[in-house]
Amino acid sequence: MCGIVAYIGSREAYPILIKGLRRLEYRGYDSAGVALLNKGNLSVYKKEGKVAVLEDFAKNHDIAGNIGIGHTRWATHGVPCDRNAHPHLSNSHRLAIIHNGIIENYASLKAELETRGYVFESDTDTEVLLNLIEDIQKEEKRTIEEAVRVALNEVVGAYAIVVIDKNEPDKIIAARKGSPLVIGIGQNEFFVASDASPIIEYTNNVVYLNDEEFAVLNRNGQLDIKTLGNLEKTPYIQKLEMDLEKIEKGGYEHFMLKEIYEQPQVILDCMRGRMNAEQGWIKLGGVNEYATRINNAKRIIITACGTSWHSGLIGEYLIEELARVPVEVEYASEFRYRNPIVTQNDVVLAISQSGETADTLSAIQIAKERQALIYGICNVIGSSIAREAHAGSYTHAGPEIGVASTKAFTVQVTILTLMALQLAQSKGTISQSRLRTILYEMEQVPEKVKQTLKLDVKIKEIAAKYFEAKNFLYLGRGLAFPIALEGALKLKEISYIHAEGYPAAEMKHGPIALIDENMPVVFIATNKSAHEKIVSNIQEVKARKGKVIAIILEGDETIKGLADDYIEVPDTDELLSPLVAIVPLQLLSYHIALMRGCNVDQPRNLAKSVTVE
Ligand code: G6P
Repeated sequence: MCGIVAYIGSREAYPILIKGLRRLEYRGYDSAGVALLNKGNLSVYKKEGKVAVLEDFAKNHDIAGNIGIGHTRWATHGVPCDRNAHPHLSNSHRLAIIHNGIIENYASLKAELETRGYVFESDTDTEVLLNLIEDIQKEEKRTIEEAVRVALNEVVGAYAIVVIDKNEPDKIIAARKGSPLVIGIGQNEFFVASDASPIIEYTNNVVYLNDEEFAVLNRNGQLDIKTLGNLEKTPYIQKLEMDLEKIEKGGYEHFMLKEIYEQPQVILDCMRGRMNAEQGWIKLGGVNEYATRINNAKRIIITACGTSWHSGLIGEYLIEELARVPVEVEYASEFRYRNPIVTQNDVVLAISQSGETADTLSAIQIAKERQALIYGICNVIGSSIAREAHAGSYTHAGPEIGVASTKAFTVQVTILTLMALQLAQSKGTISQSRLRTILYEMEQVPEKVKQTLKLDVKIKEIAAKYFEAKNFLYLGRGLAFPIALEGALKLKEISYIHAEGYPAAEMKHGPIALIDENMPVVFIATNKSAHEKIVSNIQEVKARKGKVIAIILEGDETIKGLADDYIEVPDTDELLSPLVAIVPLQLLSYHIALMRGCNVDQPRNLAKSVTVE
């Protein structure tokens, strides 16, 4: 949710900022801007729209300077427009700021500053924060870093900010609370960004700021970190393990397509070293570390948002089925505000691709206060949720850039499957032979996903038949129900077609009223135990002239005879069927979105990482 990038050193800042913003564009693309400091001049260029619009605009302007900050925005306070775009300038035009997050008490701060004569050009909370900094700097005659520190002690909310001061041109100030921020350390130069992707090609030495810390990055190579309480901290330098290739499209037309096609590999990577079918073991390091508490948990609560919440639903089915432990799955945004009953006997699983989703982070903070064990399932290494959790498992899918989550989902489901099996083995709720059978089948999953990807041509043909539909219904039972939800979410996210996922049996309690000859209904019929029942549901749709697109197991002649269109996927153990069944739905939404002329990687109004509540 908003991407920030900054540079100080001896190189030209602008190319670094623009390249960085392009990499961070997945975090928001309502507007983009840069501020450059050059020989005492502070220039700001900002435009509504994508980074490309900014680039086009800036090419006719002076873009020189060795200090700069850049921002790509996902609008919260104020509509997307040039005026509300970051960077913002202070009233004296001495300071400039970029900000990711929300200042919750901005209204009262703004009112107070207005009484003192401050005038605001934008509708943003960020401009208020900057003028508060300026006010403290002026009134209390403080250095820029001191003014930032004092101001941040007055604000309520979340932020990752970078501030530059025209009169102190040899330093930049960065601070964070609740929003991510990484500092890259080069030779007498520093980079700052919301994630490591803008930094990686210059250095792999990084420092992750902690909440309520701020850093002073000096042009002479000195890095000072302090807490907002003014305690000095020793920078903890870590080595980045990120591959530049992995954050580029690698020949694919879109990141989403690349990420869909990466699934066989990332599922394999995610399982690697964590299981052995031959020897019949599963070993998730985080689970081993807290084995007693996890094995004795009275209840497991899964909390997440969006696609990650859907993988949580699959986790519920798997853990209850295999390990016989009660599981609740909660939207993090609901959990955090309803005074949930959580005790030290509970294990809370937080699932998050980015590891930065504000609601999920708050949910685990509440659960932690109530003594639950927090287990994170995150993709981004070193992310806030991963760090807040007591233990966890990384999904190791590599950077996911397409806003609609694909590979992150399948690896989350992979981890949850392993977790359910490990728990079942420890609790003795699964026989060793059944465990081995499932593990053998798991080893085959990457290959089966690969085979499913070969159905792309057929899926594209089906997309061509239905891409003009106004509504879609996705139905499934049991483990296929979360897949129906996820399939519908993929379609609405990127094609803007209204799509609903529903338990197939619930259709008769409402959605059946929507069915007519214009309504495509996608049935996920990949779980054998529900086969007869799903066939009946298909009949019910056909009787009302609905168009049936069925995801079936290879050789399912019954449904082939009934469906208008079908996609045959390889059979696997039913418990693993979600990992295969989701793939054609990802491709279907991808092709439909393209045919409708939509921006697949950057759908309107969405952002990859939602760091506001
Ligand atoms: C946003 C993204 C979704 C994602 C959700 C949760 O809405 O657009 O793709 O599923 O956030 O994100 P997380 O990083 O916590 O998995």
